[in-house]
Formats: sequence, structure tokens, C-alpha cells
Amino acid sequence: MSYQFLTVERKGGIERVTLNRPDVRNAFNEHVISELTTWATRAHGDETLRVVVFAGAGKVFSAGADAAWMAKMAAYSHADNVRDARAGAEMFLAINTVPAIVIGRIHGAALGGGSGLAAVCDIVVAEQDAIFGFTETKLGILPAMISPYVLQKIGASAARDLFLTGRRFDATKAKEIGLVHDVVPAAGLDAAVDRFVAEALSASPTAVARSKALIQNVLGQPPAGVMGITADAIATQRVSREGQEGLKAFLEKRTPKWGA
Ligand code: COA
Repeated sequence: MSYQFLTVERKGGIERVTLNRPDVRNAFNEHVISELTTWATRAHGDETLRVVVFAGAGKVFSAGADAAWMAKMAAYSHADNVRDARAGAEMFLAINTVPAIVIGRIHGAALGGGSGLAAVCDIVVAEQDAIFGFTETKLGILPAMISPYVLQKIGASAARDLFLTGRRFDATKAKEIGLVHDVVPAAGLDAAVDRFVAEALSASPTAVARSKALIQNVLGQPPAGVMGITADAIATQRVSREGQEGLKAFLEKRTPKWGA
């Protein structure tokens, strides 16, 4: 599969996906959205994919939605606007639910939908000088399509400040509110990402995919209401091939062998 605005490099079970529109700071328009959705849809069906690293080419990770693309939507009907926006929402959903572990590598800036892309990653590593922001209100628009994922990560209190003011904030603050997991000096960014990749590769792929689905299924539900889901999840996994392999490897003091 070849893309115009993405660079996708595969090495074993690791895929590095780089947003590649550096002249506009990797802002995304309908074409980038379409390519990311195609990539994510394919990733859903790829059982050999274990870890994804999302990055941005050039000076920043992503400046979010392409302002020129959104400005031109004034010429379209409301129905066309909804259709177009929905394609963006489908993209975030598709990336959010990729069964592999998705790691965001944030340098420079992640603004608007760029911070939204960080929110749909499982693990986010940022260089300490990176800036973040849900800047939409400063542009007269809203952080709409990204809001479910950002709210899951940062909660309503931080969102009420950051969504409403649209102010930019640093990587330390991004970590404080749960958008970022690790903040490192720029020179150590790739090494930090690689540490998370190695950690991710040591986990059972089926347990990872099912844990990821479990988070979505359990989130926000009353504990008593999800007992059926949680009991079924562990009952199925512990007797599965990888469940048995992991438990036995621990008891036999050896490294587990994942995969078929
Ligand atoms: N949409 C469309 N174009 C964008 C863009 C966006 N979101 N963000 C940046 N660009 C374009 C700029 O207009 C500029 O185009 P030009 O070369 O034709 O003038 C080019 O990308 C470079 O931008 P510039 O601001 O000069 O780069 P920088 O490296 O100094 O700063 C950012 C990078 C990301 C900090 C800065 O571009 C920025 O703040 N962008 C807006 C981010 C934002 O608020 N996004 C929310 C959108 S909903």
C-alpha cells in the first residue's frame, strides 16, 4: 500500500507511521484523514502487527486540522459538512481501536487534532520542549471529533480549562493531566520510544488486544454492570494458548513464546 501523506515502515511486528506533510506542519485534511483511516482499517486486520509508532515529519508532530480545508467548508451544505466531519470521527475511532499497542512520538508541537491524535495513542512520549493545546476555540471552532478520546485521557476538569481557553501548554503539564506518559529531553526521544516498544513486544499480543478492548468496554460503567464482561474476559484468556503459555512460563521461570 502506498500513501501520499504517510510514510509507513514495517520491521517485523513494528510499524512506524509518520505523518508526512511537513510544509503545513502535518496538518490533516480530507486526504490525510482518508489515508489514516485506510491504514488503521488495515491494521485492525493484521494479527502480526504488535506495535505502532506514530510520529511526524519535519519540525512538529502535527498542527491538527488543516485550517484552509476547514475554511473552505463554508461553501458546502450542512449535510456535506456533517459527512466530512464524520469521516474525521471515523478516523479517530479506527486509530483508537487498533488492537496493537500504539505509541505516539511527540516532538515540536501537537495542537488541536494533533493533541487529539496523541489522545488516541496508548502510550505517548514527548520531548520536553513540545507544546500541546486544544487551540480550537482560539480559531473560532471546537475540539469536537477528538473530545471523546481527550476526555477519556484528561477528564472534564482539565478539559474545561484547556478546551475553553484554547491555551497552549507544555509537555510537563501534558503529563500531569494524563495526555502524555513520559517526557524526555529531545536527544533521548527515540531511545525512550524504543524502550516502550521493547516493553510492548514482551506482552502477549492477544492479551494486549483484549485488554485494550476491555478498557473501552468497562470505562465509565458501574462495576456490577460489567461483571459479566470482566469474568468472561479472564475466563477466556486464561485458558487460551497465550494465557496458558504465559502462566506456565512464569511458573517454569522462562521467557514465554507468544504467537501461534
Ligand atoms: N492548518 C493549515 N496550515 C497550517 C496549520 C494548520 N493547522 N498549521 C500550520 N500551518 C501552515 C502555516 O500556515 C504555514 O504556512 P505558510 O508556509 O504557507 O505560511 C506553515 O504551515 C508553517 O507554519 P508556521 O506557523 O510558520 O510554522 P512554525 O514551525 O513556526 O510553527 C506551529 C508550527 C504548529 C506551532 C504553528 O504552525 C501553529 O501554531 N499552527 C496552528 C496550530 C493550531 O492551532 N491548530 C489547530 C487547528 S484546529
